[in-house]
Amino acid sequence: MVYPTLKIGKHQPRFPLIQGGMGVKISGPRRAGAVAKAGGVGTIATVGLAVDSPHYNGRNYFDANELAVKDALAEARAEAPGGILAVNAMVALTDYERHVRAACEGGTDIVISGAGLPLKLPEYTKEFPDVALVPIVSSTKAANLILRRWEKQYGRIPDGFVVETPLHAGGHLGATKLEQVTDPALSLEVVVPELAAFLRDEARLDIPIIAAGGIWDRSDMERAFSLGAKGVQMGTRFACTVEGDASERFKQAYVDAREEDVVIIKSPVGIPGRALKTPFVAKYLEGEVTSKPCIANCLSHCSYRNDRSAFCIAQALVDAYRGDYENGLFFCGDNVVKCTRIETVPEIMKELFGD
Ligand SMILES: Cc1cc2nc3c(=O)[nH]c(=O)nc-3n(C[C@H](O)[C@H](O)[C@H](O)COP(=O)(O)O)c2cc1C
Repeated sequence: MVYPTLKIGKHQPRFPLIQGGMGVKISGPRRAGAVAKAGGVGTIATVGLAVDSPHYNGRNYFDANELAVKDALAEARAEAPGGILAVNAMVALTDYERHVRAACEGGTDIVISGAGLPLKLPEYTKEFPDVALVPIVSSTKAANLILRRWEKQYGRIPDGFVVETPLHAGGHLGATKLEQVTDPALSLEVVVPELAAFLRDEARLDIPIIAAGGIWDRSDMERAFSLGAKGVQMGTRFACTVEGDASERFKQAYVDAREEDVVIIKSPVGIPGRALKTPFVAKYLEGEVTSKPCIANCLSHCSYRNDRSAFCIAQALVDAYRGDYENGLFFCGDNVVKCTRIETVPEIMKELFGD
């Protein structure tokens, strides 16, 4: 099979594949290390790593998270020496800057950043010029805005763009309103060629586009490459692997999921998210809002903190990671219905890229 070379700044993985960052702790050091070892880019989601860290004493969430990011990178690096590691840091977090700085100090190769526009990312990483910076966008407009701002303010251009379509992806979606989730104008088929043409013809930049959302097998991947992507980012398929940080119950929920179990909710962050209709989510969709207490004011905008119209998302995601099906928020892409067993990372890589 012929596939493109994916070069992100100074980093070139053997295969043009990024395992998407999945919080809380769905993509921790074990999963990221396994993917990096197998020749892809392994991504650690920085959100909420503190909760299971020995540094956390119940009162020092932000300090502990910073140390936990560095620990996670060290653990993944030990698993995959010479492999390529990224962190996924969400702009929507109160301590976003600290996540990014800790990741750079901890030796990440790439910072991938979405859930908001990472307009200040070059400022937070300026002492680490070898760290590649990759914003996640869902439209050419957003990519253009980031490009112009970074060039003007910091004289820096992104090292790649992840284009994630809300039509299929798991987790928080790049759409402000629920209706936009199904808008064909935000499909990979529209946005990837449009952004590729914009970068080539208008911006005159050779920056790779990485397509995300709804990619499961080789034919999905080839379709993305034919649209102009130089790589793919996959989340849902890697969330259900043996080498994982999440509980077995989390993975089993993926295996059991049927089409009618996949729903869109309004997340406390204020944007839509795709998740399994667990008993907790079913009640929330019916208007019954219950929540465990806030862990740590982790979001800049939080509709639980503001007016109690939603729930503490950190708690619900931690419950999911620990395997509490009743109370957890199990993020997933709509491809979760294709998940029929728990695979290993090398099995997936072999199926996608051959020997
Ligand atoms: C369980 C889960 C958690 C996720 N958490 C994050 C996250 O913390 N930050 C982020 O930018 N994207 C997150 N995502 C999105 C993934 O990184 C990835 O881009 C997306 O899942 C790709 O679509 P796919 O699931 O159809 O492969 C999450 C996805 C899943 C399934």
